[in-house]
Amino acid sequence: MKVIRVNDYETMSKKGAEIIISLVQSNPETTLGLATGSTPIGLYENLIQDHKENGTSYKKITTFNLDEYMGLDGDHPQSYRYFMDHQLFNHIDIPKEQTHVPNGNAANMEEEAQNYDNQIKAHGGIQLQLLGIGNNGHIGFNEPGTAFDSRTHIVQLDESTRKANSRFFDSIDEVPTHAITMGIQTILESKQIILLASGASKADAIHKLITEEPNEDFPASALKQHDNVIVIVDKDALPDTNLKLTDGITLEDLA
Ligand code: GLP
Repeated sequence: MKVIRVNDYETMSKKGAEIIISLVQSNPETTLGLATGSTPIGLYENLIQDHKENGTSYKKITTFNLDEYMGLDGDHPQSYRYFMDHQLFNHIDIPKEQTHVPNGNAANMEEEAQNYDNQIKAHGGIQLQLLGIGNNGHIGFNEPGTAFDSRTHIVQLDESTRKANSRFFDSIDEVPTHAITMGIQTILESKQIILLASGASKADAIHKLITEEPNEDFPASALKQHDNVIVIVDKDALPDTNLKLTDGITLEDLA
């Protein structure tokens, strides 16, 4: 795992975007795994700007998003489908049918989860998966305690996650209690993973990610079992660089 520490959110977003743009340019038919949350918004803005200025095309790209709330339709402003359409897909040339977000309102959610996983496999897997990180170390919606060998599944959200995400809803009561998420194993099968983190609220999680051995109480630690992970953080998310790095972690400090 390579950790790159940069000055601020803008630099983090730009660095992450550069990796994705260069992959899309060298492999215009690649499959991307995408994430929601406030963290990747700046990266998506960079992709849109580059698409408009340099013409990088997404016509043949396929995307799979990590997760979706259960019980929200895709036109609900807090659904992740709505987020992706508005933050990215509507502003680039990707055909909508090549963009996949799990359906949080399927009649049979177990079947939806399995189909989603199968669709990823049918596309030959994900080349590059983008991730954020929850304050409690969740990736996608894989909360602490999730098995590292999990595949796409239904989860009950932690109260801490509902609280953190309630900032986007009118009240916490409106935050769904359940979600569908790619599993940790599904994520680990991506060829390359980029995790972004910005701001002091992520400092504890990033400290644990760097210093702890893999353990299921801290889902993001599973990424240490993958051999191609880049973590891009800003100074606030990693204030202390005098850390004892666990095996296999390198730190490049550009801040
Ligand atoms: C949500 C998403 C995660 C995301 C996390 C952090 O719960 N399911 O994929 O990484 O929150 O969000 P933010 O980037 O807004 O801090």
